[in-house]
Amino acid sequence: MNVVLVFGRTGQVGWELQRSLAPLGQLVALDRHSKLQDGGCGDLNDLDGLRETVARLRPDVIVNAAAHTAVDKAESEPELARTANALAPAVLAEAAHAVGALLVHYSTDYVFDGSGTAPWTEDADTGPLSVYGQTKLEGERLIAAAGARHLIFRTSWVYAARGGNFAKTMLRLAQERDRLTVIDDQFGAPTGAELIADVTAHAIRQTLRDETWGGTYHLAAAGETTWNGYARFVLDTARALKPDMAIKAQEVAPVHTSAFPTPARRPLNSRLDTTRLRQTFGLTMPDWQHGVRRMLAEIL
Ligand SMILES: NC(=O)c1ccc[n+]([C@@H]2O[C@H](COP(=O)([O-])OP(=O)(O)OC[C@H]3O[C@@H](n4cnc5c(N)ncnc54)[C@H](OP(=O)(O)O)[C@@H]3O)[C@@H](O)[C@H]2O)c1
Repeated sequence: MNVVLVFGRTGQVGWELQRSLAPLGQLVALDRHSKLQDGGCGDLNDLDGLRETVARLRPDVIVNAAAHTAVDKAESEPELARTANALAPAVLAEAAHAVGALLVHYSTDYVFDGSGTAPWTEDADTGPLSVYGQTKLEGERLIAAAGARHLIFRTSWVYAARGGNFAKTMLRLAQERDRLTVIDDQFGAPTGAELIADVTAHAIRQTLRDETWGGTYHLAAAGETTWNGYARFVLDTARALKPDMAIKAQEVAPVHTSAFPTPARRPLNSRLDTTRLRQTFGLTMPDWQHGVRRMLAEIL
């Protein structure tokens, strides 16, 4: 039976992976506080501990869903972000290589500079605008250099029913205010942690069967919107699903990114071209509205 080792079990994607990967083998899911009995841990800041974990468990597959995802905070703690997003994935890749495991890792649209309007392909030039984006890109490069078999999925605008998310924030604000202002010049596709986890499970099964597969793939829901379009969809869907909900906001006004200055710069164009993923693994990406509607039906 395959042993599948997951890091970041409390995160949006990590949580869903525990569902989608369960049929693939014996699942060992760790979080930052996990300690193995005879040494080893799930903390990305403990590089020796990570090495020990892989050496002890000798997994067939390692899935790293943990990361320093606090994009603005990363600007003021670049070393911590680099350890979690670049050095720890490199250690996992070296350790995976040593035991012959497949490493699955997640990266981000933030590796791009957000210029233009065309969806980014996997081979497009990168140009991160933030510490988070720089450290995630370094992580990708170190994984590739370590020589382990790997799958890197770059995704975007991740949400999940569990925990806080953009949709919940919009629903709360819409019940408090008559008017919301939401950015309308950043383009991307909200992508559910459920979809990411399901695609990961499919891709792992196929990659384990064919040793020649691996590499970097863009994984995002189909279609595109802005944060403003996303917010309007959330409120319209909530009104339809729950007519008695006390939504006060009558308007979701569009504003430019410059209206909400943040420590980390965000790419304006986060569109990801998923052709390679769909063709390689024979998958269809559902429209972004599909998953958001399901998530709203779950939380309302
Ligand atoms: N969220 C997005 O919009 C987005 C977009 C593109 C790509 N991605 C990528 O997708 C992947 C999954 O993201 P997500 O949305 O599921 O992130 P998330 O919900 O923020 O979860 C991140 C997880 O990493 C854990 N973590 C952070 N620092 C750690 C450390 N030092 N040691 C061990 N665990 C640590 C967190 O644990 P604690 O809760 O204990 O801190 C949390 O469980 C990440 O690689 C991320 O970069 C995310």
